[in-house]
Amino acid sequence: MRILFVEKAFSANTIIMEVFSTITALQAALAEQKAAGKQVGLVPTMGALHAGHLSLVQHCVAENDVTVVSVFVNPTQFNDKNDLLHYPRTLDKDVALLTKAGCTYVFAPSEEEMYPEPDTRQFDFSPLDNVMEGQFRPGHFNGVAQIVSKLFMAVIPDRAYFGEKDFQQVAIIRRMTQQLQLPVILVPCPIVRESDGLALSSRNARLTTKQRNNAPIIAQTLFESRKFVSDWSVADVQKWVVETLNAVDDMRVEYFDIVDGDTLQTIHDWNECDFVVGCIAVFCGDVRLIDNLRYL
Ligand code: PAF
Repeated sequence: MRILFVEKAFSANTIIMEVFSTITALQAALAEQKAAGKQVGLVPTMGALHAGHLSLVQHCVAENDVTVVSVFVNPTQFNDKNDLLHYPRTLDKDVALLTKAGCTYVFAPSEEEMYPEPDTRQFDFSPLDNVMEGQFRPGHFNGVAQIVSKLFMAVIPDRAYFGEKDFQQVAIIRRMTQQLQLPVILVPCPIVRESDGLALSSRNARLTTKQRNNAPIIAQTLFESRKFVSDWSVADVQKWVVETLNAVDDMRVEYFDIVDGDTLQTIHDWNECDFVVGCIAVFCGDVRLIDNLRYL
């Protein structure tokens, strides 16, 4: 299916974006662009787009001739059926936002299109996938690798854009790209935050007013903890962050790990490496939020 969206913002400024639901139709359009020597960028998303996604699109539009944004809520990466059920689906609104953002093609496939038969591939990214999200969301990264590899193979982009809020995901996708020898340059983009510090996430929409008011404490605590690095041990900073957040009403830290940013393994001493990142997952009620901050 090929749907055209024409946005007339000003009479002199006509933007045309196309929406595809099949790989074949998308590839036919991309083949013409590639034959004309155009550079293609891909922004994989699960929709419910917010300013964080739009900043990825902005980077992509600036660095490529053609921007493809995929919108697909990938069932194989949800270890929690409830989370999949409640994941926001707002395709019409997403398409309107992407038209204005300068996207060239939206790829919004059905589940049957992406998984005509069950994907039985099992990836091994150890030790990157044994910790943090990998430990608490078994199978999650295998599902991410399944869908991202399918998208990479369908689009074969020159570049692909991912948000650093999903710090571990970026490391896993980098490894997957190497393992499968896919000719795609990964472009990690900085976390976009609300003015109160809360990292943008599609899940923020599920927070109650009270949870939304409390949620910025996560980022604020991480930023505050950075001040202690020169005086406190890794264990003391880790303990302080967890205790501070667990003391907030309706908040529960699932994990807070201070890791080597390359290997994702917990460090015990600030001198162990020079790329140190604190990665956190916190439940606000039943909404699970993640964030991270570079310490060194
Ligand atoms: O980060 C996400 O939104 C998803 O994990 C991704 C990369 C689009 C794969 O479904």
